[in-house]
Amino acid sequence: MKVLIVGNGGREHALAWKLLQSKQIEQVICVPGNGGTATMPGCQNLLLATDDFEGIAQFAKKQEISLVVVGPEAPLAQGIADYLQNQDLKVFGPSKAGAQIEASKAWAKALMQEAEIPTASAAVFAQSKAAKSYVKERKAPVVVKADGLAAGKGVTVAQTVDEALAAIDAIFQGQFGSAGNCVVIEEYLTGQEASVLALTDGLTIRPLLPAQDHKRIGEGDTGENTGGMGAYAPAPLVTPQLLARIQKEVLEKAIAALRNRKIDYRGVLYAGLMIAPDGSFKVLEFNCRFGDPETQAILPLLETPLEELMLACAEQRLATLPPIVWKPGAAATVVAASKGYPRAYKNGMVITGIPQAESKGAVVFHAGTKLEGQQLLTNGGRVLNVTAVGENLEKALHKAYAGIQCINFEGMYYRRDIGYRV
Ligand code: AMP
Ligand code: GLY
Repeated sequence: MKVLIVGNGGREHALAWKLLQSKQIEQVICVPGNGGTATMPGCQNLLLATDDFEGIAQFAKKQEISLVVVGPEAPLAQGIADYLQNQDLKVFGPSKAGAQIEASKAWAKALMQEAEIPTASAAVFAQSKAAKSYVKERKAPVVVKADGLAAGKGVTVAQTVDEALAAIDAIFQGQFGSAGNCVVIEEYLTGQEASVLALTDGLTIRPLLPAQDHKRIGEGDTGENTGGMGAYAPAPLVTPQLLARIQKEVLEKAIAALRNRKIDYRGVLYAGLMIAPDGSFKVLEFNCRFGDPETQAILPLLETPLEELMLACAEQRLATLPPIVWKPGAAATVVAASKGYPRAYKNGMVITGIPQAESKGAVVFHAGTKLEGQQLLTNGGRVLNVTAVGENLEKALHKAYAGIQCINFEGMYYRRDIGYRV
């Protein structure tokens, strides 16, 4: 079968790589893909925009694509799944209505409150004045979130009231465009974060291995938030007992609440959780897609063919599949980023050393790269995800770091402490 993947990040390269390990997969097409998906055997790029739904549908029908997998949230929130399903294509990824679980924090909060899913207490405001008086009353620390999609930049964890007030101003002054039409002000939570990604067909939901991402740019989890600087799986913080509780108290309740709203949700439901030292947990956010870079650390451990799971979700028969099988051991991925990221950075730096990294046993997923002639160039803030599997996390990390040390591009930056909390 042929699969089309929408997106151009490390997550999409990892999805294509995993799918191509199955004998059932003849070909993967990435729209628009990156330098890694352009050169991987069995994979090719198609230069269309991710919001060109008509172009994607025409290509998919002509080429007899069996499944379209949507990586990023933006096209899902714009309704790509609805559009393609209306053209009789099979899609892995929720409808526009389902994608609201990520695209509107106010909507997600209301769903969690209705379903009694543990989450930070919060209030939603459409006006700056009311939001500000609430913050002055509640005091700091407090968390201020722009309602809509803001590429991970819409959240301020404010340590002082002044910081919170400035964040409210920025949101209502249009820093995040229409994502800032309203604001969610939330109780500040402490603990450790974990990501539980689950596959669902809208009726049944099955968690993947729990992962931990490192969102901050600096070592020791300091500095600005990024899309994620590295990840590992399984995260021992989420014990099997805890995962069973998350399944019952978060995932199943969320799917039931979506069904109550007549939403047919087929794809990934990603719960970002804060786990307190006493083992209690609250949902920080839901995402409507695979996490990036969590996916790069989870998929190398997956034994069950990925396309079987995805097709079962798209065809709403996940309950009929046997349990998901995992390889033993652990996997880790370390992000090589451009100098300056998550702020402004330059593209076009020549990348060397990937074959050497791979000869050390690492797998290098491309995130922000492009191929120009025969030359591989940087083309994004997060450039590469150097990934490895080992019999335990220490060995996986050792291999990933041995790999990344072979790689070079001007201004390359990476965190040297991925997995340090374990
Ligand atoms: P979100 O996009 O909602 O996951 O927020 C991005 C990041 O902000 C999270 O990964 C957390 O590190 C932090 N964050 C979000 N909500 C809270 C909260 N209620 N308390 C503490 N930190 C938070
Ligand atoms: N790694 C965080 C995310 O995918 O949202």
